[in-house]
Amino acid sequence: MHSLITYQVDDSLALIGLARPPVNALGQPLRAALLEACELANGDPSVRAIVIHGANGLFCAGADITEFGSPASFAAPDLPGLLLRLTRLDKPVIAAIGKLALGGGLELALACGYRIGETNTRVGLPEINLGLLPGAGGTQRLPRLIGVAAALDMMISGAQVAADRALALGILDRLAASPEQLLASACDYARELIASAAPVRPAEPFAEPAKDLEADFFERYCVEQEPRWKTRLAPRLVFSAVQAACLLPLEQGLARELALFKQAEASRQSEALRHVFFAEREAGKVPGIEASTALRPIAKVAVIGAGTMGGGIAMNFANAGIPVTLLERQGDALDRGLVHIRQTYAISVKRGKLTDTQLEQRMALLSGTLDYADLADADLVIEAVFEQLAIKQDVFRQLDRVCKPGAILATNTSSLDVDQIAAVTARPQDVIGLHFFSPANVMRLLEVVNARETAPEVLATTLKMGRTIGKIPVVSGVCFGFIGNRMLEPYAREAHRLVLEGATPAQVDDVLTGLDLNMGVFTMLDLAGVDVNFLVRDANRAAIAHDDSYCRLGDELYSLGRYGQKTGRGFYQYEGRQRHNDYEVVALAERLAGELHIPRRPVDDKEIHDRCLFMLINEGIQLLDEGIALRASDIDLVWINGYGFPAHLGGPMHYAEQIGLDRVLAGIRYFRQTLGDYGQMWFTPAPLLERLVAAGKTTVERI
Ligand code: 3HC
Ligand code: NAI
Repeated sequence: MHSLITYQVDDSLALIGLARPPVNALGQPLRAALLEACELANGDPSVRAIVIHGANGLFCAGADITEFGSPASFAAPDLPGLLLRLTRLDKPVIAAIGKLALGGGLELALACGYRIGETNTRVGLPEINLGLLPGAGGTQRLPRLIGVAAALDMMISGAQVAADRALALGILDRLAASPEQLLASACDYARELIASAAPVRPAEPFAEPAKDLEADFFERYCVEQEPRWKTRLAPRLVFSAVQAACLLPLEQGLARELALFKQAEASRQSEALRHVFFAEREAGKVPGIEASTALRPIAKVAVIGAGTMGGGIAMNFANAGIPVTLLERQGDALDRGLVHIRQTYAISVKRGKLTDTQLEQRMALLSGTLDYADLADADLVIEAVFEQLAIKQDVFRQLDRVCKPGAILATNTSSLDVDQIAAVTARPQDVIGLHFFSPANVMRLLEVVNARETAPEVLATTLKMGRTIGKIPVVSGVCFGFIGNRMLEPYAREAHRLVLEGATPAQVDDVLTGLDLNMGVFTMLDLAGVDVNFLVRDANRAAIAHDDSYCRLGDELYSLGRYGQKTGRGFYQYEGRQRHNDYEVVALAERLAGELHIPRRPVDDKEIHDRCLFMLINEGIQLLDEGIALRASDIDLVWINGYGFPAHLGGPMHYAEQIGLDRVLAGIRYFRQTLGDYGQMWFTPAPLLERLVAAGKTTVERI
C-alpha cells in the first residue's frame, strides 16, 4: 500500500488511515492512494465496512491549497470524482474525524454515509477565506444534511464548528468520549451498523432542501448579507451553488458547483487570498530564528499605562488566560482603565459572545498597581504610556531597575525610536517594540519591532506569544512609523493634496472604499482624531517630510477645533455616526490652494486611485529595499490586518503585481512629469521598483 495511506483489515473492517503530514491535504498523490485503498476494501469480500481516519489523529484540512491554479488541482483522480465514487461503494463507510475536518476534509466526511467525531473535533467549510466555494460536493450535500440556512451560514462565515454543535446540527452522528478512543469507537459504530444491516447510506434528512424553505428566504438573505460582501466574488458563488442545491437534482447540482468552483479558482481574488494564506504562515519564518532558538516562558505579563492601548493590550492576555498587572501613575487613571475593560467585556456579554462567568474569570486575571516593585516577577512588560521619548525612557529606566533578569521589556510606541528607548537600559538585548493597533483587543496585526540589539530569543518569544494571543505578528525594523505608518504617510499625503487640487474628501474616500478598503483616508482621520494626527505630525515634522504644505488642511482643521467624529466635525460633519459632506471644508481647501498657488481643477477617480495607491506601493517597495520589511508578503499582511486593505486584493504588494510593476512605475513617472514642482518633489520611484522593472520581474522581491 502507498506510503500516504495506512491500510489494515481487522475483523471485517477495513481501516484506511490518511497519512500525509502535517494536515492530510488532499493533493493528487493522497487522492490516488485513498481511491486505491477504497477500491481494495470494496473488492475484498472479507471487508464489510470501511473506516476512514487520520493516521496521526488529525482527519483532514481539505484540498491541497498549493495545487490551486495549477494542473495538479484537477489531476486524476480529482476530488469531486473521488468523493462521488466513495458515495457509490457497496459497503458502509464511516469517517472517524479526529481534530479537524475542514473544506475538502469535511466534504470527504460528507461523502461517507456515517460520521463520528471526538470531543475536540472541529469541522468547517473555510473555502470562502481562500476566495473559493466548497468544490467537492459540500454546497450540495451539506444543505441536504443539515438544512439550507445552517449550511449557508457555515459556508458564508467559513467558521469552524465545535464537536457538540456539529453533533446537534447532524454533521456528526455520534461522539467518542475522548480523542484516544475515537478509532475504537468508530470500529464499534461500524460493527453496530453491520449487525443492524444498516443501509450503505442513510436517507438524507433534507432530501429536497427547498421543500420547507420560506419562499423569500434567498431574497431576504441577500438583502441582509450582500452589502457586507462588497465586491467579493466567493460569497456570491457560494450563494448561487446553494440555490442550485435547492433547484436541481444532486447530480446536476454537483455539476453546477464544479463550474462555479472553477470560476472561483481562476479568479484574481482567490489567487490573492491564497497568497495571504501562505503569507501568514511565511511571516513566522524569520532569518536567524531556528526551531532550536530557546524561548522564554511568558506566564506573567505587566502593562504600563491603562489608557486606550494599555487596556486593550491587557485584555488580549486575560483572554488567553495569562495574568496581567496594569501599572498607572495615579489611582483614578488605574480605576478608569479597569472600569473601561469591564465595560468592554460587558458589551461582549450583551452580544452573546462571552458569558458572565467568563467576564469574571478574565477580570480576575487583571490586577492593578501604582508600584513598580509589583512588576518584579513579570516575564513580559509592555509599555503603553504617552508618546513622548523622555517619558518612555523614564519608564524603561524604572523597569531596568525592578524587573528580573531575562524579563522582556517591550514598548508599544507608534513612532519613537526603539533603539533610543532600549539605550537607557543596561539590557538592550531584552528590549523590543510590540506595536499593537487600536482597538488592541480586536485588531489582529502586531508589528514586532526588532531593534538593533534585540536578542533572537526575545524576538522568537514575542512572535510565539503574539500567535498565542491570536495576533498576526509581522517583524519590522526600526524606522519612523515602522512598516504600516510609514506607508500611510505618502498615501495620506496624496489624499490631502488631491483635495487641495480640487477633489473632495468624499470623492477621495469613495474611490478607496470602492476598492473595498474598510475606510477612506479622511473617514479614518476623523475617527482616529484630527487632533491626534496633528500632534504626532507636529512633533515629528522633520522626520516626516521636508515640505509639509500638503497637510495644511489637517493643520487648519486642528486649529478650528474640528477634531473629527468626537467633535461632530472634521473633514466631514457628523450626525451621530452619519457622515455628511461639509462645504466649509471645500471652501477651506480652495482658500489654502490659493495661498499655496495650487491650481484647482476637476480630479478624476483614476487619478485619485493611482496617486494614492502608487505612492503606497512605492513606499512599501522602498521599505523592502531598506530591509525594514523582510519580505513583500509581510507588507501585505500589515496593510490587510492593520489598515483595512482588502484581503481579496492580496495587500498592496500583491495588488502592485496584479496591476503590473511596469504600469506602477510608468504611473509614478507620469505624475512626476505632470504635477510640476510637487511631482518632482514627491514622485520619485523607489530604486528597487526601477530595478525590478528593468530586470523584467513581475513580483516584488529584493534584488
Ligand atoms: N493545503 C496545503 N497546505 C496546507 C493546508 C492545505 N489545505 N492546510 C495547512 N497547510 C500547511 C500550511 O501551509 C503549513 O505549511 P508550512 O509548515 O510549510 O508553513 C502547515 O500545513 C501547517 O499549517 P499551519 O501552520 O496553518 O498549522 P496550524 O496548526 O496553525 O493550523 C489548520 C492548521 C487549521 C489546518 C490551518 O492550516 C488551516 O486553516 N488550513 C487551511 C484549511 C482550509 O482552508 N481548507 C480548505 C482548503 S480548500 C478546499 O478544501 C477546496 C475544496 O472544497 C475542493
Ligand atoms: P492614552 O493617553 O489613552 O493612555 C496613556 C496612559 O498612560 C494614560 O492612562 C496615562 O495615565 C498613562 N501614563 C502616562 N505616563 C505614565 C507613566 N509614566 N507611568 C504609568 N502610566 C503612565 O494613550 P494611548 O492611545 O493608549 O497610547 C499609548 C501608547 O500607544 C502611545 O505610545 C501611542 O503612540 C501608542 N499607540 C497608540 C495607538 C492608538 O491608536 N491610540 C495605536 C498604536 C500605538
